[in-house]
Amino acid sequence: MKVWIPGPTEVRPEVLAECARPMIGHRSDAMAQLHDRIDPHLRLAFGVDEARGSQVAVHTTSATGLMEGCLHGVGKRVLCVINGSFSKRWGEIAELLRLQVTRLEKAMGEAASPAEIDELLRKFGPFDALTLVANETSSGVRTPLGPVAEVMSRHPNTLWLVDVVSHLAGMPVDFDANGIDFAFAGSQKALALPPGVTVLGASKRYLERVRGAKRASYYLDAVRVIDGHRERQTPATPCIPLYFALARQLEDISAGVTLPVSERGLRGAAAWDARYAKHLRMQRMTEDWAARHELKYVPAPDLRSWTVACIRKGSIDVSKFLAQLKQRGHTISNGYGDLKGASFRIGHMGDHSEEDLAQLLRACDAVLADSAPR
Ligand SMILES: Cc1ncc(COP(=O)(O)O)c(C=O)c1O
Repeated sequence: MKVWIPGPTEVRPEVLAECARPMIGHRSDAMAQLHDRIDPHLRLAFGVDEARGSQVAVHTTSATGLMEGCLHGVGKRVLCVINGSFSKRWGEIAELLRLQVTRLEKAMGEAASPAEIDELLRKFGPFDALTLVANETSSGVRTPLGPVAEVMSRHPNTLWLVDVVSHLAGMPVDFDANGIDFAFAGSQKALALPPGVTVLGASKRYLERVRGAKRASYYLDAVRVIDGHRERQTPATPCIPLYFALARQLEDISAGVTLPVSERGLRGAAAWDARYAKHLRMQRMTEDWAARHELKYVPAPDLRSWTVACIRKGSIDVSKFLAQLKQRGHTISNGYGDLKGASFRIGHMGDHSEEDLAQLLRACDAVLADSAPR
């Protein structure tokens, strides 16, 4: 069975095997060496520039943990861009933390424009932080980061917090080039690892602001996690098997191992860029397939995610379609939240190849042909 849901994604057997290594102590030199293996590649994945004082780190929690964790100490007033289920969750978490939340709400499948963000920052500001989900997995909509970065550069006192959960390792984040202050991604999405750890990037500005503030959390305190990581320590016992897998997967991506055969010579940033380009080609393959069946995407063409396709059902019975695909060895997802039953999602992220995707789309063709009226 091939898993094509938008996380967890397929994990390569050699990466899974890393999880079966004998245990090491989490305060041991071996653990410090694991951190050393991880960091240079995480910096490439995020586009984090150490010279600018930005840091990367890993924490044993699902991504929701850091959605909450990064809010501790940012200040009282937060503008939350809400355009799907996960951005909505972030707003709810901020309210639970008793922050003063202003919402910029868009329909599922839409993205807030930079002008709208700028308008709210000016009209209702000053804000201490802005939250944005770069790739809303619930509706397959991507918010292009560059144009928002331009707006954020005009609001230097507002920290920019970005959920790159299904974005990192599938599309460029350009953390420092975009002036992002905090970004995080769970392991089970485009990084193609089992779930359980979350990776993050934090700017110097974020660390300075939050370090000086009261933070009412121990386990989810981002500063404690980042400072600990720098010292090759974790605040509590980490999920060591996933650290082994993370190190191996990041090294493999940087060495071009996960690329199509013709691109296997690429290394470092070029290998990461080639990984993003593969996902863009997979997005286009899926769009072509949808167009052949006269199926429409939920997001507009220029806002479609490179890692998750969210397609309106047309005349398809989604539950039946999913069940029939399963019989052919492929699992895809129903729509999420309000789009459940009205759309389906294909997670063309992680280590899936274009050949794998062509096979899935042929299986989709066969299921639709079988269920067409004769
Ligand atoms: C965009 C986005 N943010 C946050 C989350 C929450 O991640 P987790 O379930 O790892 O806590 C998800 C999970 O699908 C997601 O897609």
